[in-house]
Amino acid sequence: MTSQAASGAGTPSPRMTVPRFLEAKHQRKLCMVTAYDYLWASILDAAGVDALLVGDTVGMVVQGKSTTLPVTMDEIIYHAEMVVRATRQALVIADLPFMSFHISPQQALENAGRIVKESGATAVKLEVGLIQAEPIRTSTQADMPGMAHVGLKPQSVLKLGGYKIQRDQQQLIDDSLAAEEAGAFGIVLECVPRGIAEEITGRLKIPTIGIGAGAGCDGQVLVTPDMLGLTETQPRFVKVFADLRAATTTAVRQYIDEVRAGTYPGEAHSRN
Ligand code: KIV
Repeated sequence: MTSQAASGAGTPSPRMTVPRFLEAKHQRKLCMVTAYDYLWASILDAAGVDALLVGDTVGMVVQGKSTTLPVTMDEIIYHAEMVVRATRQALVIADLPFMSFHISPQQALENAGRIVKESGATAVKLEVGLIQAEPIRTSTQADMPGMAHVGLKPQSVLKLGGYKIQRDQQQLIDDSLAAEEAGAFGIVLECVPRGIAEEITGRLKIPTIGIGAGAGCDGQVLVTPDMLGLTETQPRFVKVFADLRAATTTAVRQYIDEVRAGTYPGEAHSRN
């Protein structure tokens, strides 16, 4: 085990790079969470995560929309730039939003290039399958690392008719192998039965990062506002590690009470 592998949460470690991310597959579990702004990225980075994902879930958890489909390139770049500025250690990966890579490999290349140049993110993530693995190849050939997202692809929600577990074992394996062959440096496996996720993890040389895919993946990713209990509801596979919605409500109610009662600001928070 390397010293990095031995380091625990909160311990400063060398900056995560794509080669280190790949090496971790056989050394330790990778931890990724989403981030959308400077404030949260600075907290999450200092806590010691390996990667921060500027996910297009920004459309749902920050913008309050019902799907990720309306998220634009400009919005992803705006959020990714703040996250990059706050980050000292983690690898920053930004999502290519719906319809930013579907038209042609050329479009994927141009938009991956915009994200890398304008936000400073190190890598991009694309929701791809067997047929659409080509954009990964184009961005990787241009030296922009690409992460794939297979299984439940939220950008396909209209076709899928909802956010459902994906059980087509052969399709999932084919999609994952195609993404690896096209040059992906990692694969997010979303809402996949754990047995299938384990099988894919064993067959790939690149790390698998699970979300609702069981413990057999090489790492895990969660949407930060879900795992911190900031969102009103969470998918069943999410463990809520803190109840920050309740803690925030309690704190703000106390502030309101104290201002109304005239007890805040008191002596300690006033100057002569
Ligand atoms: O957009 C996102 O936040 C994601 C995660 C759910 C993996 O893709």
